[in-house]
Amino acid sequence: MAEPRGFHDVMTALDYPMSVVTAAAGGEHSGCLVGFHTQCSIDPARYLVFISKANHTYPVAAAARYLAVHLLDESQGDLAHIFGEQTGDAVDKFTRCRWHAGPDGVPILTESRAWFVGTVRSTFDTGDHVGFLLDPGEGEATAPLRPLGFQQVRGLHPGHDA
Ligand SMILES: Cc1cc2nc3c(=O)[nH]c(=O)nc-3n(C[C@H](O)[C@H](O)[C@H](O)COP(=O)(O)O)c2cc1C
Repeated sequence: MAEPRGFHDVMTALDYPMSVVTAAAGGEHSGCLVGFHTQCSIDPARYLVFISKANHTYPVAAAARYLAVHLLDESQGDLAHIFGEQTGDAVDKFTRCRWHAGPDGVPILTESRAWFVGTVRSTFDTGDHVGFLLDPGEGEATAPLRPLGFQQVRGLHPGHDA
């Protein structure tokens, strides 16, 4: 079913911040560019990310205890390209960037200036995506961020159709 036209126009007029969400489980690493993400509670602190069921990242995230959320800076178009246009079905994205292992092996992107790890509390089906409700844990913001916005990356060709 196609998106209603007016809704599509409103969504594509926005400039929401882009992130890379990573996961590790069963000896596998995965991660993808994510535009669908938001804080959703203050006390307790909670965050939501939405992963497409089609993505390589989805089954890894579904089996993972932790996800890492990296907010991208406008200078980090290279990470958006690696994680948004490549798929873990075909390439190992983690040979193309620097990272280290966080809790349970979840990849933390070394270049990231603003990231946190969240424990997956629950998941829920939202359509072609699945919502992951996160309980934020360790993280850091090492410098002020000028967020990489959707408008800067909307021309990328996703590694998977949603
Ligand atoms: C602008 C843009 C926004 C995206 N937003 C999301 C998103 O919110 N959730 C998601 O699961 N995929 C999103 N994607 C698609 C994935 O990042 C992309 O298909 C990626 O190549 C999948 O990698 P994987 O198969 O290794 O998981 C987006 C892609 C682009 C270009």
